[in-house]
Amino acid sequence: MDQEETEARYNIKAKKLSCRLSRTVVHGGGSWLRWWKQIKPIDAAADEYILRNVEFEARAGEITAIAGSSGAGKTTLLQILGGSLVTGCRQASSRVSGEVLVNEKPMNALWFRRISGYVTQDEALFPLLTVEEMVLYAARLRLGGGVQPARARAEILLKELALEHVASVRIGDESRRGISGGEKRRVSIAVELVHNPAVLLIDEPTSGLDSGSALNVVQLLQSMAAEHGKTVVLTIHQPGFRVLKLLDRVLLLSNGAALYEGTLASLEERLISAGSCIPRHVNVLEFAIDVLKNLRRDGERSEDHHSSDADELRYDVHIKQTRASYSNGRFTEEVWILG
Ligand SMILES: Nc1ncnc2c1ncn2[C@@H]1O[C@H](COP(=O)(O)OP(=O)(O)OP(=O)(O)O)[C@@H](O)[C@H]1O
Ligand SMILES: [Mg+2]
Repeated sequence: MDQEETEARYNIKAKKLSCRLSRTVVHGGGSWLRWWKQIKPIDAAADEYILRNVEFEARAGEITAIAGSSGAGKTTLLQILGGSLVTGCRQASSRVSGEVLVNEKPMNALWFRRISGYVTQDEALFPLLTVEEMVLYAARLRLGGGVQPARARAEILLKELALEHVASVRIGDESRRGISGGEKRRVSIAVELVHNPAVLLIDEPTSGLDSGSALNVVQLLQSMAAEHGKTVVLTIHQPGFRVLKLLDRVLLLSNGAALYEGTLASLEERLISAGSCIPRHVNVLEFAIDVLKNLRRDGERSEDHHSSDADELRYDVHIKQTRASYSNGRFTEEVWILG
């Protein structure tokens, strides 16, 4: 990759992104042949949407968080943004439609994968390697060239990600204790940074970490965005107050629909103007996610099986009167949300 590419700034926009899953059902049992014949794709009307008409924007120099409860479609959206699920193509079990624009031009997935790094939700590290060996291995694989440039890059990354003190420790796994969870997340990020990507997509960088380690990881990402103009997109479940302050924009997903996109300040304003009373001990994002869990999807499966895609995708989310209850601490209170 040339210098110009690594220093470029990329704004990503998604327009009307939908991902439809084709489910298959098995009727009855029997021989392999019978079993094969009996697997029938169920009709289109029974297909499920993992994402529906999602509009999204991530800017260079900012951290954009995709938030939502488990199963909301966060990883799926990140995969599409990362070019591993491609729009317009029918993949094994899903079909993606809509548009992803990079600096206002349609994304070329192959090219985009070169200028971006994608850190998956599950750690894809070799437990028997030391931290230094792992990063060096990734650098040699991705950069090509000789050992020296790879070694120099690995050295920089270990320093940047505060991993020098565990450089010679094995990564480990459940059966062999190695580095900590937070350190593993940082190694995973280092591995994806070896080619100095301009865009970094990270699935759940803070999951499983204590609040201090989570803050550490997000601070690191924030400095990469702010100082080097990288576009950072991450998915997140329940960020603490301090992590929240580092996020520039947030996309709130619920059952595959984007219910909010923008800054946290205006999310708070919107909730308040919708009649919500946000408890003082609950942060605005956590509150919004909890409230959204109770949202109902209407028109999810169209009555008219032959309707056009646009009709099929028409999807209204009604905020029904929801009672959200928070039971932590003596501040327990119940709030009514009126959307
Ligand atoms: N290839 C697939 N086959 C079957 N179901 C799928 C597939 N991909 C996604 N799904 C379903 O789509 C929904 C969204 O999945 P996704 O992994 O994007 O959610 P998520 O928001 O990342 O959840 P989590 O926070 O638990 O990681 C889930 O219900 C999931 O089971
Ligand atoms: Mg996920």
